[in-house]
Amino acid sequence: MLESLPRLPDDPILGLAAAARADGNPDKVDLTVGIYMDESGLCPVFDAVRQAQRALVDEEATKAYMPPVGDPAFNTGMRQLVFGTDSAALAAGRVSSIQTPGGCGALRIGAEVINAAVPGARVWVSDPTWPVHIPLLGSVGLQFENYRYYEAADHSVDFDAMVDDLKQARRGDVVLLHGCCHNPCGADLSLEQWGVIADMAEEQGFLPFIDIAYQGLGDGLERDAAGLRLLAARLPEMIVAASCSKNMGLYRERTGITLFLCADANSADALQSQAAVAARRVYSMPPAHGALIAGRILSDGGLRENWERELGGMCQRINGLRGELRRKLEAEAGRDFGFIEREKGMFSFLGLSAGQARALRSEHSVYMLDSSRINVAGVNAGNIDYLARAVGAVLRA
Ligand code: LMR
Repeated sequence: MLESLPRLPDDPILGLAAAARADGNPDKVDLTVGIYMDESGLCPVFDAVRQAQRALVDEEATKAYMPPVGDPAFNTGMRQLVFGTDSAALAAGRVSSIQTPGGCGALRIGAEVINAAVPGARVWVSDPTWPVHIPLLGSVGLQFENYRYYEAADHSVDFDAMVDDLKQARRGDVVLLHGCCHNPCGADLSLEQWGVIADMAEEQGFLPFIDIAYQGLGDGLERDAAGLRLLAARLPEMIVAASCSKNMGLYRERTGITLFLCADANSADALQSQAAVAARRVYSMPPAHGALIAGRILSDGGLRENWERELGGMCQRINGLRGELRRKLEAEAGRDFGFIEREKGMFSFLGLSAGQARALRSEHSVYMLDSSRINVAGVNAGNIDYLARAVGAVLRA
């Protein structure tokens, strides 16, 4: 029976990362997967994570299942991190949540709950969006419409086009928004633009579904959540998928959360029960380790301060790299790369063709996606000159 199944192509992101790992060129530059890498090219373990982990290992008394909604300290800490400690919705009990296996699990549980409410609901996704959004939400049965978002010619959000397209979104539809650090383009909405989206959601009745996988890596933890919080202050309902992969470096621990902002506390409770039943049919219970670490960090003053300091340093370094990369690329290629400095988070498109991205791989061992999306956090003092020279050479060819 199973022999009829063909081998599928490699994942466009993970497959390229594997190709980069296999490349023996000592000068290779891997800008593929969105993981934070330090100056030595390693994805570091946060000091606060090490400390929390040590305490956890010493104190752990059981490996019994986690409760279906996950660790209470993690849920409380993440609700506050995402919505803000002063959130009126939180104070009113209008937010519930469920711990999930990573941000992907969070998106999937959000999709399951949406599909339970409106089977086959239309989800409006930005063009472009993270490619995995489509199979993650689509395999539940949700349908997709694109809204225009990124204007490649001038590397900015085409907000007029976005608004124009979203005028068609109506009650029963979902609009998927990137909370900050847009993946793949790095171009984010201004607070004013978030305000316009809130007006539209109020008038048209669509449900915002916010993917905030990169909180803390654009302009800091608070500013990165400002758009989401603006919506939360005005709208009755919203779903959020958040993750500790990037901002705590817990990638392999699969630590995420789906949050439900509801009209009242009863609906919040109902939504949590829906999410728990959805989780039961997909994976039953969430993994413990990452969420116990994150919950401890979020609830312990010293660990939290330590974590925020380290995360702040990473955010600053990414923004510094953006400026430096812009200067080096402009010097080598003689064209404007100012957008790199304006964009936020780990990703930007360099504006190269797929052929040029492939030439960078084959001729220079510089790995980026065919769309020319780069992981800025993969740049460092040791590879930035080589990278800029390689891009310059490919642009001149
Ligand atoms: C990325 O976009 O590179 C990351 O979100 C990792 C992934 O799973 O694709």
